[in-house]
Amino acid sequence: MTILDQTVVTTGSKKACVIGGTGNLASTLIKHLLQSGYKVNTTVRDPENEKKMAHLRVLQELGDLKIFKAEFTDEESFDSPVSGCDYVFHVATPINFTSEDPEKDMIKPGIQGVTNVLKSCLKSKSVKRVIYTSSAAAVSINNLSGPGLVMNEENWTDLDYLTKEKPFNWGYPVSKILAEKAACKFAEENKIDLVTVIPALISGKSLLSDPPPSSSFLSMSLITGNEMYLKGLKEMQKQSGSISFSHVKDLARAHLFLAEKETASGRYICCTYNTSVPEIADFLRQRYPKYNVLSEFEECLSSAKLTLSSEKLINEGFRFEYGINEIYDEMIEHFESKGLIKAKES
Ligand SMILES: NC(=O)c1ccc[n+]([C@@H]2O[C@H](COP(=O)([O-])OP(=O)(O)OC[C@H]3O[C@@H](n4cnc5c(N)ncnc54)[C@H](OP(=O)(O)O)[C@@H]3O)[C@@H](O)[C@H]2O)c1
Repeated sequence: MTILDQTVVTTGSKKACVIGGTGNLASTLIKHLLQSGYKVNTTVRDPENEKKMAHLRVLQELGDLKIFKAEFTDEESFDSPVSGCDYVFHVATPINFTSEDPEKDMIKPGIQGVTNVLKSCLKSKSVKRVIYTSSAAAVSINNLSGPGLVMNEENWTDLDYLTKEKPFNWGYPVSKILAEKAACKFAEENKIDLVTVIPALISGKSLLSDPPPSSSFLSMSLITGNEMYLKGLKEMQKQSGSISFSHVKDLARAHLFLAEKETASGRYICCTYNTSVPEIADFLRQRYPKYNVLSEFEECLSSAKLTLSSEKLINEGFRFEYGINEIYDEMIEHFESKGLIKAKES
């Protein structure tokens, strides 16, 4: 049993704010914080949307969880939720894969959101550290040749390449790079203690069960055959150089670990497993023989061009609890229970 499965909760005096409680990672982080004895404030854009609020209502039964309405573009809206908190976790991000105007839909609000949250942290006088969730998309997209490249926290995605070539979904990595850099600059200028967590593809069982989050659909596309997600998965390997996974519970644990760890500073990659699309297909075929697994990947290199290294996080004392077997066992069970995948007919 891991800490995230425990149901007994103690009410502590520590308080944290999670920006974006309707999100996949944010909801698991809220659960982990409540189970670790934290009082939690979270922000959502639309508290009237009961479908999006359902998992938060369940989490309210676990401990002291307060929900606030806040929006990236509304400068003052983060003042109340952040007030009195020890730690602020900026997990939310604007995502719009079909956007025709990434500047307006993702890049500007991403920068504006983190700047507004940091301004509220500054006003609060209580916040000891801000933990900003970035992305592997801000680290590994480049024109370098592999295989064998090892990417660490020194690496940044090639912004010139993205803005000149505008590959599929280029607005998202640009938004993540510029928002992370804006956060670091604002924090440095205003002496805010800021730590960045860099997840890879978020996977494993989500608290958002109906429907599962789009990152789970990406990971499962080799079995579901969903064309849009399959294209997204192949593009991910082509652009990022690998398919790299982070289990959602390990990520939640890493966020709190880095908040509480006094020596933590700068960026931390949190990635459990690096692989490629053809290798995942082989893995799935062997581990889950009852499902049909797609096998046409001409455009994907058979092995990853690079790996994302979590050495800095491990050297800080963090231990991963979930590997690729648990990641897929949980998602297979989840998708099966929702009727989203079916076994082969014998
Ligand atoms: N998913 C992945 O595989 C992956 C990989 C690497 C890094 N990451 C990073 O990890 C973090 C969490 O990802 P996730 O997949 O868990 O996210 P998610 O489920 O897509 O949730 C995104 C959250 O951001 C909120 N949001 C979007 N635009 C906003 C705005 N203008 N103002 C306020 N809130 C806004 C959304 O609120 P609504 O519900 O109201 O839309 C939602 O709560 C993100 O920072 C993401 O970039 C994710």
